[in-house]
Amino acid sequence: MTISVENLETRQVDPTKPLLEVDRLVMHYKIKAGEVSAVEDVTFTVHQGEAVGLVGESGCGKTSVALSLMRLLPNNAEYVSGQIRLDGEDLLQLTDEEMRTRRWKDIAMVFQGAMNSWNPVYRVGDQIREVLDTHFRGQMTYEQQREHMERLFAAVGLPGEMLDRYPHEFSGGMRQRAVIAMALACSPQLIIADEPTTALDVIVQDQILKELKRIQTELGMSIIYISHDIAVIAEVTDSLGVMYAGKLVEYGPTTEVFARPKHPYAYLLLKSTPSITGPRRQLAPLEGEPPDLLAPPTGCRFHPRCPFATERCAIEEPPLADIGGGHRVACWHWEQVPDLEEALLR
Ligand SMILES: Nc1ncnc2c1ncn2[C@@H]1O[C@H](COP(=O)(O)OP(=O)(O)O)[C@@H](O)[C@H]1O
Ligand SMILES: [Mg+2]
Repeated sequence: MTISVENLETRQVDPTKPLLEVDRLVMHYKIKAGEVSAVEDVTFTVHQGEAVGLVGESGCGKTSVALSLMRLLPNNAEYVSGQIRLDGEDLLQLTDEEMRTRRWKDIAMVFQGAMNSWNPVYRVGDQIREVLDTHFRGQMTYEQQREHMERLFAAVGLPGEMLDRYPHEFSGGMRQRAVIAMALACSPQLIIADEPTTALDVIVQDQILKELKRIQTELGMSIIYISHDIAVIAEVTDSLGVMYAGKLVEYGPTTEVFARPKHPYAYLLLKSTPSITGPRRQLAPLEGEPPDLLAPPTGCRFHPRCPFATERCAIEEPPLADIGGGHRVACWHWEQVPDLEEALLR
């Protein structure tokens, strides 16, 4: 399948320039029983043209981070503290109206499960046209919109005629490609893709990720990939963040985090991930359950499940500290975590 991103707006990127800076973000949900500590002190930076991955078990706060960045949180959510700077400007300080003009144009999102959210009674092209109508009212003629949509479809490997079809005439993979085309519609600087291929079979998943990667690189966009499957996003990201119970516990260059995870959770998670290409990995399951975020453990949130934990871990919370080369780990005992590659070869 060939991809053409011709005629879509491409950006010059300077990979040393930060685009998105998430700075000590804290976000809680209020429920009857109390406060759910879903995003706790999360800090990371996405540079121009960079692909960042966020991984972690279900319920660790990945979608909550994404919705926080989009300012599309449910009503019971509360930003407690922190900043989300896009090109230096704190999105949390914008009015709702200002944020509306930025959303989709500057920062777009492929929602978890979005391929099932197409309205069944409208043609897919008409649904994408609605996004263009909202953001480029009066700036594009009907024909220009059509041309633009055909280019978007070509970019994601769909024939232009499919714009006239209804969602039920698309396969799952095609519906997901169309969702990506919709996210690209306003040429955002940053796309957040929340489990973009989780519901699809492995081959389609692989094709779509590779295409998304290529579009992202060619257009000079930045992207945040979110997945519970570390192996999937390791292939398409430059930097990788591992979340546990609302916290970012490890962050760094993907090659480094993937080969030498130094947070015990990341280490155990990776050790239990079957690798398709590498040596056969011994599957060591992660024992226990993630904590209830209404009453997370004191100190390090991972300490009740951690084989390296000491008394200190239950009392003092380890900071996300740089251990060299931009590799950051929130653990008092990271130096004791074995080398994963060596452990796997043994
Ligand atoms: N609207 C909500 N109200 C209360 N708690 C919520 C809400 N949405 C999510 N949560 C809770 O926040 C935590 C993080 O959820 P989520 O961000 O969806 O995790 P992930 O995407 O990593 O699976 C979970 O404990 C989840 O139950
Ligand atoms: Mg999620």
